[in-house]
Amino acid sequence: MSITILKGNIVSAPALGRLEVTKNGYLVAEEGRITGVFPALPERYAGAPVEDYGDGLILQSLADLHLHAPQYPMLGMGMDLPLLEWLNTYTFPTEARFADPDYAREIYRRLSRELIEGGTTRVCVFSSLHREGTLILMEELEKAGVTGYVGKVNMDRNAIPALQEGTEEAKRETLRWLEECRDFRYVKPILTPRFTPSCTDELMDFLGKLAAERDLPIQSHLSENTGEIQWVRELHPDCRQYWETYAKFGLWNSRTLMAHCVWSDGRERAAMGDAGVTVVHCADSNQNICSGTAPVRVMLNEGLKVALGSDIAGGDHLSMFDVTAAAIRASKARRIQDRWETDFLTVAEGWYLASSAGSAFFGQEPGFAPGSMLHALALDDSLLPQPHPMTVEERLERCVYRRQKDAIRAVWSEGRKVFTAR
Ligand code: GUN
Ligand code: FE
Repeated sequence: MSITILKGNIVSAPALGRLEVTKNGYLVAEEGRITGVFPALPERYAGAPVEDYGDGLILQSLADLHLHAPQYPMLGMGMDLPLLEWLNTYTFPTEARFADPDYAREIYRRLSRELIEGGTTRVCVFSSLHREGTLILMEELEKAGVTGYVGKVNMDRNAIPALQEGTEEAKRETLRWLEECRDFRYVKPILTPRFTPSCTDELMDFLGKLAAERDLPIQSHLSENTGEIQWVRELHPDCRQYWETYAKFGLWNSRTLMAHCVWSDGRERAAMGDAGVTVVHCADSNQNICSGTAPVRVMLNEGLKVALGSDIAGGDHLSMFDVTAAAIRASKARRIQDRWETDFLTVAEGWYLASSAGSAFFGQEPGFAPGSMLHALALDDSLLPQPHPMTVEERLERCVYRRQKDAIRAVWSEGRKVFTAR
């Protein structure tokens, strides 16, 4: 039997706002599945090899529940435009290049490595509309050790000639892609209407029925930008609110992810709560393209499911440590905007959203729960100066905001060690 035993300062997020710390403890997995976190190594493991990370931190690895893989080459560019112009000017032409399989292979290989080296082992990712490119993305993620869901994007209206599919073509390519990606083990398909303005009613209807027939999850964008919301209102005069344009086609349920939700009001949020939709908060992106500041604290208080996304390349950081810091900062901006009537996210809360809340979409229990597959990282912060002898919680906080170079020493995904730093 294969046994993994990691020794170090073990930190996990078993509940929103609560960190569980085991100093100089042992995290044990058998056949890749966690058996427990122990302050001393249980007798039954005596003699088994221990990977000792000394005074280092052993953390849950992270989940990025919203990113655009074909926007990786434009990371850090084109931020001076609002959403709809940004899409037409920068994003669509960038994604159009993924018609070329060699280009897709090169970019997706680099992205997949950077995800793993940054400790992100679970993703829900948008590809481009290209079927072949999407299969290449799935191959590269799987090769690197990233697990999760990948979506071939559907968009049959309101784009540019180089990046738009016909309605029949979109249906046909989606069905073919679903056939062709059946044998992946760690990455699975997720249906992906880009957003309401990109999809005809006929395509939305097709995707909703497909989701139900094949029990597939769904990801899209919701209420990100005021111009976008106005446009959706014009496109669907029969719907009172944006979310109803998804709900009326069967794209609104407990396996649906909706990115942004910056402008979702009480009624739209109640509809998310009722259906069990997960909000993916993308703080960097919301600020970069001036979409707004999502009321994440209110969403959490209302009991909504909330996770985090880098939303590259609207977001300019791929590391989920940076994304966590951005979410915390955004919650403080929102607190000021709300005239100090709403609370901000604490570090422990931000960390929970980036780790446990993200993994919940994959049916995982929070923290290092016995029975879960091992998703973890080992991190070294020993070279940073200490203002005083720091607690483990303080060290985690500093890692969120600032990490020493090459801090992440090793990463485990779905029970396998997928990265070792040189
Ligand atoms: N809405 C539709 N497409 C996109 C996209 O690529 N990025 C963002 N941030 N919003 C979108
Ligand atoms: Fe997005």
